[in-house]
Amino acid sequence: MERRENFGSRIGMLLAMAGSAVGLGNIWRFPYLVGEYGGAAFIFIYLACVFVLSVPIMIAEFVIGRRSQTNAFSAFQKLSGGRKVWKIPGIMTIVTPLLILAFYDVVGGWSVNYLLNALTLSFTPEAAGTDFTAVFAEYIASPWAPMVGTTVFLLLTALIVLGGVKSGIEKFGKIMMPTLFIVVLFISVWELFIPGSGEGLKYLFKPDFSKIDAGLCVSAMGQAFFSLSLGCGTMMTYASYTPKDESLGGSAVKVAVADLLFALMACCAIMPACFAYGINPGSGPGLIFETLPCVFTQMPLGSLVAILFFLAIVVAALTSTVSLYEVGVSYLIEERHLSRRLSVTIIFAVMIALGAVCSLSFGVLSGLRLFGENVFGIFDKLTANILLPLGGLAVCIFVGWILKKEDVREEVTNGGSLKAMNRLYPVFLFLVRFVAPVGILTVFLVNLFA
Ligand code: TRP
Repeated sequence: MERRENFGSRIGMLLAMAGSAVGLGNIWRFPYLVGEYGGAAFIFIYLACVFVLSVPIMIAEFVIGRRSQTNAFSAFQKLSGGRKVWKIPGIMTIVTPLLILAFYDVVGGWSVNYLLNALTLSFTPEAAGTDFTAVFAEYIASPWAPMVGTTVFLLLTALIVLGGVKSGIEKFGKIMMPTLFIVVLFISVWELFIPGSGEGLKYLFKPDFSKIDAGLCVSAMGQAFFSLSLGCGTMMTYASYTPKDESLGGSAVKVAVADLLFALMACCAIMPACFAYGINPGSGPGLIFETLPCVFTQMPLGSLVAILFFLAIVVAALTSTVSLYEVGVSYLIEERHLSRRLSVTIIFAVMIALGAVCSLSFGVLSGLRLFGENVFGIFDKLTANILLPLGGLAVCIFVGWILKKEDVREEVTNGGSLKAMNRLYPVFLFLVRFVAPVGILTVFLVNLFA
């Protein structure tokens, strides 16, 4: 990317964006939050956040990226004519992804380990009845195994990023996203037939609105940023490689719908199993690693499904980490004029250190806590619930109030040539100027004082 390349094909670009969006956020984080916040009510607020906040903000990020034709760090500077305050969101686009990567690659590491477990046939029918909750608890508390997984996972990320945009990212997404979809669909459908799973579906689709409180709203909003890779320049960077005749609004809606589909399906694969096998849905970040092994041991061809599932998860996680990693790398290349190889190595070193601290925070470092959260939890909550919405707020203000209206209009409507976007443009502008910023601030304030 020393020379700014464009994506090879339109579908390749969409798949790469969807690849960034669909990841552990959908399969791991969303179900565990749904479980923590009591089911359908969380999903309900989440849906509202996706369509009212995330979609307009994604379009706004696309506008900044495609207009500026540069990395997320300098995009704000370039378009604002070098105004100093806009350095701040620029810096956040480098820092936030690395903070996300710090805990995300730990979960990627868990997935690598569970893939190995699946490959060594740990989820055969003979293992039925194993207490997988206890197995997981013991595993993450041990110092070495999770660290090795995390290192392997980071190494894979680094190797892909070293390969550059086209060859690295696109090929991966094209094969594995559909595989993930089919496997998760298969698991959910199978679960429809296990006794006791009906409770899980009720839990997912029958909202109990009394469960809605400030904490739930902050988490739903945070997840709506996290899952769609918004608020820290990822989508901006992708959009800077997007062809001029692509509809930004159309792309945003497609990515959001695909992302939502994966998230809801993941819940359908996990919640019914929780109820059928008596696992607490609110058990936190370990949820999928506690629940799905139970399912695999009982399922026909369970070992094969387990292998495919964890393989697909690792790849889905990789297509996301690649996009998180790329932000830092393209900053070092374009702003610091380092080689791609050196940039990748520097980020790798930083991430190993941060990843180790997060990984150990379930074991030897578990005493290190802030507001009751371990280091992993702090990174998780700080990024998703605070930094990403703040980044989103900056994007709204920038596109809604700072950029010239004609320029925004030109990007969104492709110079007036997109009929639907011509009509929807006022709606978009209203959401970005008023609804989204007020929404984000309100959720913050209510959470602070409630
Ligand atoms: N959206 C990804 C997921 O759901 C994670 C991710 C990738 C991300 N890039 C991001 C999250 C940028 C926030 C910002 O797994």
